[in-house]
Amino acid sequence: MGIQVNEEQKEFHLFNGEVSYIFRVIEKSGQLEHLYYGRNITHRRSFKHLIEREVRPSCNRFEGDHTSSFEHIKQEYPAFGTTDYRYPAHRITRSDGSSVTDFQYTGYQIIKGKPSLAPLPATYVEEKEEADTLVITLYDSVLHCTLRLSYTIYRNRNVICRNACFVNEGSESVYVNNAMSASLDLPDDQYEMVHLAGAWARETHKETKKITKGIQSIYSARGASSHVHNPFLALKRLDATEHSGEVMGFSLVYSGNFLAQVEVDTYQVTRVMMGINPFLFKWKLNAEESFQTPECVMVYSDEGLNGMSQSYHALYRDRLVRGYWRDRDRPVLINNWEATYFNFNEEKILSIVDTARELGIELFVLDDGWFGERNDDTSSLGDWFANKKKLPGGIEGLSAKVNEAGMKFGLWFEPEMVCRGTRLFEEHPDWIIQTPGRTASHGRNQFVLDFSRPEVVEHVFTLMDNILKKAEISYIKWDMNRYITEAYSPSLQADQQGEVFHRYILGVYQLLGRITDNYPEILLESCAGGGARFDPGMLYYSPQIWTSDNTDAVERLKIQSGASLVYPLSSIGSHVSEIPNHQVGRLTPIESRANTAYFGTFGYELDPGKLNKEEKQQVKQQVAFFKQYRGLIRKGSFYRLQADADLNDVAWMVVSKDEAIVLSFRILAKPNDSYRRLKLKGLEPEKLYKIEGKETTHYGDELMNAGIILSEDYTGRAQEFWQREKPGDFASELFILKAVKD
Ligand code: DGJ
Repeated sequence: MGIQVNEEQKEFHLFNGEVSYIFRVIEKSGQLEHLYYGRNITHRRSFKHLIEREVRPSCNRFEGDHTSSFEHIKQEYPAFGTTDYRYPAHRITRSDGSSVTDFQYTGYQIIKGKPSLAPLPATYVEEKEEADTLVITLYDSVLHCTLRLSYTIYRNRNVICRNACFVNEGSESVYVNNAMSASLDLPDDQYEMVHLAGAWARETHKETKKITKGIQSIYSARGASSHVHNPFLALKRLDATEHSGEVMGFSLVYSGNFLAQVEVDTYQVTRVMMGINPFLFKWKLNAEESFQTPECVMVYSDEGLNGMSQSYHALYRDRLVRGYWRDRDRPVLINNWEATYFNFNEEKILSIVDTARELGIELFVLDDGWFGERNDDTSSLGDWFANKKKLPGGIEGLSAKVNEAGMKFGLWFEPEMVCRGTRLFEEHPDWIIQTPGRTASHGRNQFVLDFSRPEVVEHVFTLMDNILKKAEISYIKWDMNRYITEAYSPSLQADQQGEVFHRYILGVYQLLGRITDNYPEILLESCAGGGARFDPGMLYYSPQIWTSDNTDAVERLKIQSGASLVYPLSSIGSHVSEIPNHQVGRLTPIESRANTAYFGTFGYELDPGKLNKEEKQQVKQQVAFFKQYRGLIRKGSFYRLQADADLNDVAWMVVSKDEAIVLSFRILAKPNDSYRRLKLKGLEPEKLYKIEGKETTHYGDELMNAGIILSEDYTGRAQEFWQREKPGDFASELFILKAVKD
């Protein structure tokens, strides 16, 4: 178990009872050849028989050897230009313009545990025994560069984490044009590619398509991981389902431009790779400097997509998220954005706070519009000083009053942005990202601060710190509402402009790190116009992320089902909002809005003063319900029982040792419907469970195999169809299961 090395054959086997990953050094060329990735196989002294060679009509590396074409060898970190014509994992250019690389094996090291990738975010271990890391070193004697490929295998998780690092050991600078975090060559192409696509207000919609010859990819070149694609893809076998069959997940711990790509060649070999998007990227690597890629987290599951998701959930919840809030229940919050937008004053806020507290809500979040002259979205970002017309006592005064009223106080910032007319803009007009001689495009009337410059990060830290150190703030919502255009930084030389995007994200991570280090007990929720940066990089700093500005319960079924493919419920920001819904105008029952929002961090995004007496009572019960079960929701295993976006019925379940919550949601009502049963998952087969509100008890195996009967007659009160109360559209039901004694 762990990492075995067949010294003579130069073979490396990472295995842990769940997964095996095997590769070797090619004797003649010193390159790495991939041999196997999949379900755990028994270690043996040699895996030579897994080498595949054919004589093909192609260019060969060694004279007299007609099987030495890299195009036909499965590799670990392929180069272009030396007989492999597929897309390479790396590309480095020398000052003479040449870009052939030839990294040859020089040695390996096995490290107990998992080294940090700081300043990049990455998964981690708490005890060295949790994981083993294999570092392979290769050297290119013409470039004078070392390449270190790292592979970490967790002992008790079906996870392998990979990254690459280039070190320039020569005296000349070189340019890294492409440096993927991981590349994997698989022997066939019988897979579907699953990924998460979207736009503002419809993020993380699951897409599935059969892979075909050629390149299929998703990417971002927007400066953020983006609403459009999430830095994640999975390859699933054609017969794999939510709960069975082989699935491999690839997830990038990064928040900037990325590429996730699948290439199928003419022999049905599938190459998957993931990393920083090489388009717009070029990193000048001076003598003695190194370039570290972000981490790619690979999960192998033979329990379908849901099995893959559960592995990501556990890893990201327990070993990516850090700090004070990692293992703590999160407060039920109320955010004033949809309640007031920019139109509020202290009196209005305090009335929201008073009503919310009576309903049991624990944290009030003051959203956009509290600073400068910001009464709409045309001004003031960067002027992080309270608007005294709205808040006479400033943030200090308001936060004290909210705390006195018995609620915690949270505050919205958009630290990376600036608007014209602000003090920040007037003093530093050159601090925005813009290309000399070109118009700077705006997005939501705002410009992006050049976070690739340390002095900009420092300045914004001071502005935020001035507020944070004086006021009683327990939570920050960190927003980011536009992508980068005209990328260029005057602080960098002409041959370093390809570094702007990556340096920008490093600057964002640096500021996030300083804020969380200085204020470790502040709960940070990141946000980017909803879910434009819902990615593992942000999770390293913010245990929860606002999933989407779309708060409609029906839309959220798709969005949250998609997000749950990779991200744990403890990270999925989900709130109940008013109706008609502000994004789609839909009228859904308040129970269904809450039932959906429970499967996340839970809160409200409405004016509680507008609720009638009965609704207030319902909200009180909802808050009490969430408080009772938030531990289970945060830590339990999540199952998508029925979550196909095109289905009319969606069912989710979260289960821990002795309890479970099941959601059954029917989008459009159906008359005279067929019989329906919902098969549960994750229960103990021999345990007896009681479903709250029902008389009978059931064994776990019955609930998982025979299922819960959903047809209306379940109550036993069979009535004529015309007499029955109809559920209506968007109806949902929660089943609470508790293990009981026989
Ligand atoms: C976009 C966020 O996603 C919203 O929740 C809200 O904070 C607005 N920005 C404020 O401008």
